[in-house]
Formats: sequence, C-alpha cells, structure tokens
Amino acid sequence: MADNKRMRILSGIQPSGVLHVGNYFGMMKQAIALQNEGEAFYFIADYHALTSVRDPDVLRENVRRVAVDFLAAGLDPERAALFKHSDVPQVTELTWILSTVAPMGLLERAHSYKDKLARGLAPTVGLFSYPVLMAADILIYDSDVVPVGKDQKQHIEMTRDLAGKMNEQFGQIFKLPEPRINPETQVVPGLDGQKMSKSYGNNIDIFGEEKETRKRVMSIVTDSTPVEAPKDATKSTIFQLYSLFASKNEIESMRERFKKGGTGYGDFKKELFEKLWEYFSPMRKRRKEILADKLYIDNVLVRGAKHANEIADDVMSRVRAAVGLR
Ligand code: ADP
Ligand code: TRP
Repeated sequence: MADNKRMRILSGIQPSGVLHVGNYFGMMKQAIALQNEGEAFYFIADYHALTSVRDPDVLRENVRRVAVDFLAAGLDPERAALFKHSDVPQVTELTWILSTVAPMGLLERAHSYKDKLARGLAPTVGLFSYPVLMAADILIYDSDVVPVGKDQKQHIEMTRDLAGKMNEQFGQIFKLPEPRINPETQVVPGLDGQKMSKSYGNNIDIFGEEKETRKRVMSIVTDSTPVEAPKDATKSTIFQLYSLFASKNEIESMRERFKKGGTGYGDFKKELFEKLWEYFSPMRKRRKEILADKLYIDNVLVRGAKHANEIADDVMSRVRAAVGLR
C-alpha cells in the first residue's frame, strides 16, 4: 500500500441507517471492485452524519453497522483502508482552509442542500458547507478517483472547483479528482420508481430480514396492465431491478415474457425476490461471521485510520506550508 504511484481511490458513505440496493450498486460494488486496482480509502462519514443524526448512541451504532455491512459486501481490509471520518480530524482543518476560498454562490447552487431543506432539515451552517467538508475528504488523500452514484457528481465538481481555486492562489497543491460513476447503475430505482433512498422510504435493504425484504419487493408499484396483456419491460421497476441481479440470459428471458404477456407482475416480483435474496446470500453469511468476532471491526477501523492519517498528515503539511501557516 506504500507505493505512491498507484492510483488512489477514495469514497465515503454516511452512517445514516442501513445500506440499500441503490447504495450497493451505485457506490459500494464499484468501490469494492476498485480496491484491486489501486490504493483505496473508504470511510464512514460520521462528521457528515452530525448534520442530521442527533442521538450519539444511534450515531455510534450506525457507524458500526455500516462498517460491518461494507466488509460483508466484500471490502477487503488487506487491500483498502476502512476508517471512521472522525479518526482523521485534520480534515476539519482543511475544511476551514478551503472554506476561505469557497464562493458562497457555488455552495448556494448545491442540489443536495436544497433537497435537504425541502425534506425539512434545519438550514444549519454545517449542512450548507457540507460540500466543503466533502472536498476536504477527497483532497486530503490526493485522490485520483471517487466512486459514487450520480447524485454525488455535483459534489465532485465542486471539489474540483475548490482545488482549482487553491492551486491558482497558492501554487500546485491539489490533484483534481475524477468521479467514477457506473453508467448502468447511476440511479437505482426504489419501490415507487423514484431514486432509491433511505429518506424516501422506498428502499430495499441489502441485509434486511427475509420476510420484510419479500414484502417490500412485492410492494413495488406497477401499472394496471392485466396479466394476459404485453408489458413494457423498459418502464418497469421490477425489470430494472431484476437486471441488476440476473444473468444476460435470464434478463432476456424476462424481457421476452414481458413482451409476450401472460405473466402477471406478481410472478415477476417473486422471481426478482428470489434472485435478489440469492445474490446477497454469500454476503449474509460473511456478515454473520464478522458479527461473531467482537474485536474484528475495531481492529479494522484502527488499522484503516492509521494508514489514512499518514497520508492526511503529509498532505496537510504541504497545505499549511503553501498557505503560510508554517
Ligand atoms: P441515501 O440517498 O439513501 O441517503 P446516500 O446519500 O447515503 O444514500 O448514498 C451513499 C452512496 O450511494 C452515494 O455514493 C450515492 O450516490 C449512492 N446511492 C444512493 N442511492 C442511490 C441510488 N438510488 N442509485 C445509485 N446510487 C445511489
Ligand atoms: N456525500 C456523500 C453521500 O451523501 C458521502 C461522502 C462524504 C463522500 N464525503 C465523501 C463520498 C467523499 C465520496 C467522497 O453519499
């Protein structure tokens, strides 16, 4: 992991509850694949979560859960550093420095801030300057590539803007990171066909209970086309979700049966549930093993934080020197 010439990959995920199929295909699956291609850093964004989670026990519990789930999903701590955001507190210093060049207008244009206000979150300074903290998260590791879902694209663009401003002002300090968005899974639909999100309550969790997961899959919203009539696969949430889990042949077979008519949405939903349940089965097994070893998670997080701190310290000395703090 010490070779500085390797591509550096970074992503973060908020510990705001359980992980769903949108998180998995939008971000985690790519992040897990990328751990084999370079030096990867993945963190659990507890500083960010403070903008919405107000219960300290809930925050601690959620951080652990996300760590367990990410590892169960395939993150390999021998290849990627997994750590808690707040174990690298230097990132808050960099946030301050970046905020001194961050134009108000840039932050005022952030979609995520407007969305959050629309959902009833209080307009705090923290919520408003969230993209500056996110820029610091990325720049403090000299990240090359940031695997995320499409909704985070604007944040990466803002990160590039802020890095560019710093470089203009103080000389070449930062690399400009690239977002890595999987075109096939950029927006995974939820039960109602909108973007799957915890905050819309339309999520299917990757490690949900069997009964609950089945119930949620069976509640996917459909139109009222009768059983015998042909159906449009491309417009169907069931088909879109099935395509994430099934093989090419299975996908083609379902597409044909949509076109032919004679199969009801209920039957397609059952097939989707079976595929989804089977897909996550090895990960559920791994999750049980991880949970059985009480010290495993703590050890992984401590080790990850140590590695992340080494890089962050280096970058921060460069930044402090460049701006005149040292
Ligand atoms: P949520 O919207 O449920 O709160 P987060 O904002 O915590 O999810 O997202 C964590 C990561 O998962 C981000 O990289 C985000 O882009 C990705 N992601 C979340 N929902 C989806 C989705 N429906 N489709 C694709 N990617 C998603
Ligand atoms: N803002 C991201 C989200 O809500 C989480 C995040 C925080 C992140 N810092 C990051 C993602 C840095 C990528 C890189 O999902």
